[in-house]
Formats: sequence, C-alpha cells, structure tokens
Amino acid sequence: MTSTRLLDVKELEVTFRLDDGLFRAVSDLSFSLEAGKTLGLVGESGSGKSLTALSLLRLIPKPGIISKGEIYFKGENLLALPDEQMRTIRGNKISMIFQEPMTALNPVLTIGAQIAEALLIHTEISPEEAHQKAVDMLGHVGIPDAAARALDYPHNLSGGMRQRAVIAMALICEPEILIADEATTALDTTVQAQILDLLIDLQQEFNMAILFISHNLGVVSEIADDVMVMYGGRLMESSPASHIFSAPQHPYTKGLLSTLPRPELRGQLLPTIEGSVPTRYDQLDGCRFAPRCTEASDECLGDIPIYQNAMGQQAACIKVDDKI
Ligand SMILES: Nc1ncnc2c1ncn2[C@@H]1O[C@H](COP(=O)(O)OP(=O)(O)O)[C@@H](O)[C@H]1O
Ligand code: SF4
Ligand SMILES: [Mg+2]
Repeated sequence: MTSTRLLDVKELEVTFRLDDGLFRAVSDLSFSLEAGKTLGLVGESGSGKSLTALSLLRLIPKPGIISKGEIYFKGENLLALPDEQMRTIRGNKISMIFQEPMTALNPVLTIGAQIAEALLIHTEISPEEAHQKAVDMLGHVGIPDAAARALDYPHNLSGGMRQRAVIAMALICEPEILIADEATTALDTTVQAQILDLLIDLQQEFNMAILFISHNLGVVSEIADDVMVMYGGRLMESSPASHIFSAPQHPYTKGLLSTLPRPELRGQLLPTIEGSVPTRYDQLDGCRFAPRCTEASDECLGDIPIYQNAMGQQAACIKVDDKI
C-alpha cells in the first residue's frame, strides 16, 4: 500500500489560562500521520493525549488555546483556516470517535438518523439516500439486521453495538484521518478485540490514517505501526511499534511496559510506576518524568533534547544519548 503523508504537526503547544496563571498542557509536540498507517499515542491519564487529538480538529475547550505550532493537513495549515472551512474538514475529512459512545450519540434520535446527518451536512444527497447509506454503513461495521437497528435509539443497543454505531458515524463521510480516543477502553476485552479487528479491516479498505489513543500500551501495540509515548504534555519516545517492545529506550516507556500483564505474573499484583502524573507538570524543570524516574540524576533537571538512535527511535532522555 502506498503511504502518503496526510498530516504534519509541528511544535504544537496548548495553553490554558487558569485563575492562577498559564498552564502549558502540551509542549513542543511534532509528529505526522500517513495514509493507511496507524500511529498509537500512549501515556497515563492526564498526559495530554486528548488535547493533542482535539487540537487536530481545533476543538480545544476554553480557556485553552493552541498557543504555538502548525498543523498541516495535505499541505494546508489547519490553524490558519477560517472557521467555515474548518467545519468542512471536521467530521468529514478528519473524524473522531470517543471513549463513551453514549456521549457521542444523541439519545432522542435514531441511530440511522444520526449517521445520515453527517452526510446531509457535508454532501448534497437526499434524505432517503443518506438513510440508505447509513444502513449500509451499519452493516459494514458488523451490526446485524442493520435496517432494523437504524431505527433503534442508542439505549436499545449494547455497549459494543453502540461503539460500532459511533464508528459508522465517524466513517460515513469516508474520512482520510480517523482519531480514536480511548475508543475501546470502556468495552470488555472480547468486544475490544472485535473493534480493533474492525478498525484494521476498515483502514485497509479506506486507506485511512488512524491516530489510535489509549492509556494501555498493550492495546496500542495490537494496532499501531508506530507508537508515540507522551508524559506531562511532552513526547517521551516515538518508535516503530515492534521496537517499543523489543528495545524500549525511555525509562517511562520501560515503566509502562512493566505494568502490562505477563504470563509469569499470573495471580500476582501487577507492578505500577510509583507516583502519579502531576497536575501542573509544566512547572517542573528539565525532564518532567524525573520525580518518578528511577534513573534520574542532577543532569535531568536541565534541558532535555530529543535524541534519535540508528533504528529511527526518538527519545527525550539524556540516558538515551549515552547509547547512540
Ligand atoms: N478544559 C481544561 N481545563 C484545564 N485543564 C485541562 C482541561 N482539559 C484538560 N486539562 C488538563 O490537561 C492535561 C492533559 O489532559 P488530557 O489531554 O485530557 O490528558 P489525557 O487524554 O492524556 O488523559 C491534564 O492535566 C488535564 O487536567
Ligand atoms: S532524562 Fe533523566 S529523569 Fe528523564 S527519563 Fe531520562 S533518566 Fe529519567
Ligand atoms: Mg484522554
């Protein structure tokens, strides 16, 4: 499959103006998405993953703003587009699915009507045609008896079926980029596996780029070609998915890996990374992971550039520099 670069994010910064001052929630984040490829974005809760995703759609909630950076979609800087043009991209060329399908669905509209709505907004087709396309898409995402389900309300469907309906809604305009933010987190593991398989199939069919976000590195590794690890609003490591497991570079990545279930740990409590993500992480000097890092030294309080090794892995850790 040919890979075309669809999205280029350069030095993204997101800032909230809070009562007690500015909070830089995302800093200096650069990455790109390619057609037909999945980029995994992983990090504990509160690392800045959702804000990164919302930035791509220009949906950062107030009092937040994108305070720096550029986001190029097929060569055009989204941050410079008039609102009206941005609306033609959102939900059409770039669409997003969220963790909790009930919040994405309108409880008083039928599933079919909600899916058809996106088509009616973004294309010229008739309501009848839009309804038929919605039914087809529901069938496509594995919902049995799609014509009947299209007439159901969200509360009539199980959690797994609702998430499929949300995926159908995100895909109905055949987006070039799909953002899945904790899209399988609320589902049990069997349904989660089915949804991952579905996303992989749909990606091959539509050649979409997927930004797949999860706090769970195990889930991300099932679907991602490349993985980006975030902590404290910054990039910690980015690497081909295969290397993340075989040769993790950053202590935070190693920490996340150590928390994954392994057969030899069966019956035991899983290890955790000690401590938690601080709320105002932008006030920390140097490496933001330092307060929790077992390898930290005084040098870690200075500026930490992003180093790259021969395998193309990038990591923001002075210890990685030693190895190159
Ligand atoms: N609307 C908001 N106002 C203030 N702070 C926010 C807001 N949304 C997110 N944050 C903060 O920004 C940081 C990153 O949040 P988020 O991107 O949601 O993390 P993640 O998706 O990785 O769990 C967190 O500290 C969070 O509390
Ligand atoms: S820069 Fe220092 S504190 Fe940060 S991850 Fe590397 S060793 Fe740990
Ligand atoms: Mg989130």
